Amino acid sequence: MPSPSPAPADRASIPRHVAIIMDGNGRWAKQRGLPRIEGHRRGVEAVRTATYAARDLGVRTLTLYAFSAENWSRPQDEVGALMGLLELYLRSELKTFVRDRVRLQTIGRTADLPDGVQRRLAETIDATRSFSDYTLVLALNYGSRTEVVDAARSYASAVAMGREKLNDSSWEAFSRHLYTAGMPDPDLVIRTSGESRISNFLLLQAAYAEFYFTPVLWPDFTKADLAAAIADYARRERRYGQTSEQVRPDAAAVK
Ligand code: IPE
Ligand code: IPE
Ligand code: MG
Repeated sequence: MPSPSPAPADRASIPRHVAIIMDGNGRWAKQRGLPRIEGHRRGVEAVRTATYAARDLGVRTLTLYAFSAENWSRPQDEVGALMGLLELYLRSELKTFVRDRVRLQTIGRTADLPDGVQRRLAETIDATRSFSDYTLVLALNYGSRTEVVDAARSYASAVAMGREKLNDSSWEAFSRHLYTAGMPDPDLVIRTSGESRISNFLLLQAAYAEFYFTPVLWPDFTKADLAAAIADYARRERRYGQTSEQVRPDAAAVK
């Protein structure tokens, strides 16, 4: 079934930045009597699909929550297998990203990831840094609370060195110390697998994001599912604290 592609006139209703909490790999595997790692393996395929689906649908930045700061507390063999899959994934995508001009960035404490993963990340980020049309951001060892702590430390040291002025502190100034510095805030946050929670993901950046929860398990997530989320987003009215009349002047005329 072909998924609906946005007409150029619809561009404003396309979220510039979509962020996805990819959840449900374990349940996908369990339903089939397979080991959890098989769910993660199929989850990587869904990552490949989503990366290109988002770009085809006109999204400029896609952030994928791949490993949380809290996921280290899973059984050691699962953590090890996830790191192995991540390294394999990065190794296999490098050429494709360069060919397709996909820029790779990360958010999270990546310095705590295994050396092999860090090397692959550095090489892919380096090889794709000049691309500007489409960015894939992997959230790795990411958690909003550690992000805030790291940002506060970085901000305090910038103040001490005279690079930031405490007197004119602002969100703009502080946000330059978050892992997401230079990235647009997410417009749409999607979570798969039927859970309705945010699990320490982009808490500050999603202050005005629209949320979309779907029961689909991550390995089953297709381009059509992403298109459905974007179509739902297009029907929302984002008011940023204002009234409907303010954000939609034509609504005032109708009263
Ligand atoms: C998401 O799937 C992948 C990661 C968190 C790494 P889960 O592994 O959380 O799958 P469920 O929630 O157990 O089904
Ligand atoms: C959130 O999923 C983290 C990622 C998708 C990487 P979890 O499965 O870890 O979240 P909880 O534990 O159900 O909140
Ligand atoms: Mg989960």
